[in-house]
Amino acid sequence: MLKGRSLVEPEDFSLAEMDSLFSLAEKIEKDEKYLRDSCRGKLLATLFFEPSTRTRLSFEAAMLRLGGNCLGFADPGSSSAAKGESLADTIRMASSYADAIVMRNPKEGSALLAARYSSVPVINAGDGGHHHPTQTLTDLLTIRRLLGSIENMTVGFCGDLKFGRTVHSLAKALARYEKIKMIFISPEELVLPEYIKNILEKQNVEFCEREKLEESMPEIDVLYMTRVQRERFFNENDYIRLKDTYVLNAEKMQAGKKDLIVLHPLPRVNEISVEVDTDKRAAYFAQARYGMFVRMALLSSVLGVV
Ligand code: NCD
Repeated sequence: MLKGRSLVEPEDFSLAEMDSLFSLAEKIEKDEKYLRDSCRGKLLATLFFEPSTRTRLSFEAAMLRLGGNCLGFADPGSSSAAKGESLADTIRMASSYADAIVMRNPKEGSALLAARYSSVPVINAGDGGHHHPTQTLTDLLTIRRLLGSIENMTVGFCGDLKFGRTVHSLAKALARYEKIKMIFISPEELVLPEYIKNILEKQNVEFCEREKLEESMPEIDVLYMTRVQRERFFNENDYIRLKDTYVLNAEKMQAGKKDLIVLHPLPRVNEISVEVDTDKRAAYFAQARYGMFVRMALLSSVLGVV
């Protein structure tokens, strides 16, 4: 069904298609031998023009676990981008060597451009402050696994909602599910972009914007914490002023529901104190592992081996 398809934004896949990816990821999680050699002989190019730990490593782990191989770069300084090669030309080359491309790039819209120039599927692993659809697949799978379904819940997004691409993708994706209420908690300077709010309004999503995390804690079922995106700031002083606006600690967790789950795309800097890690409701490390299973499901689907 997804064979040969690119993933640039979360809406590129229907809800039914995402659902079948989640079921496949759950099957792989339960039986790690399932699909083990299904991608033998296939190559995945991982082109990372921006830093990454989880996204790149989980894609590479996913491809290796499926029996395929990976090639690529984790630092654009070691690619011909450093000599001034255009993204279109880099993509033309990578798509003539590999069967699929995973790309992270600091420019908004770069994944769409890459998909246009590629002869193989392109998976957006983050395009600037715009979108990060495979993190969204990871987040949705985590919610489904831990809460049983993706509907009828209040999701609190907290932190850098302006530059946080994982927030933009997840909010747009959640808007397609039933009875999801969203609370956006950020300082005034880091509020959710207007274009995302317009999409939510068009889809009649119930949402509100607040500045304080404490007052929202008792209402929230899924708390999505985010890092202030230092690399997207024009001015380091603004970053320093805003970086510690929210710090989730054991005391704040006391006001949370007993079946709350706390997610974070990671890396965390200061916004979740380490004392929260031992709280049963902290789900961010489990979430990162679900990311590998959902990427295995995605790769096997776009490469057409399932
Ligand atoms: C996120 C990203 O790159 O947008 N990280 C990730 O892929 N898990 C979040 C972040 O960097 O803050």
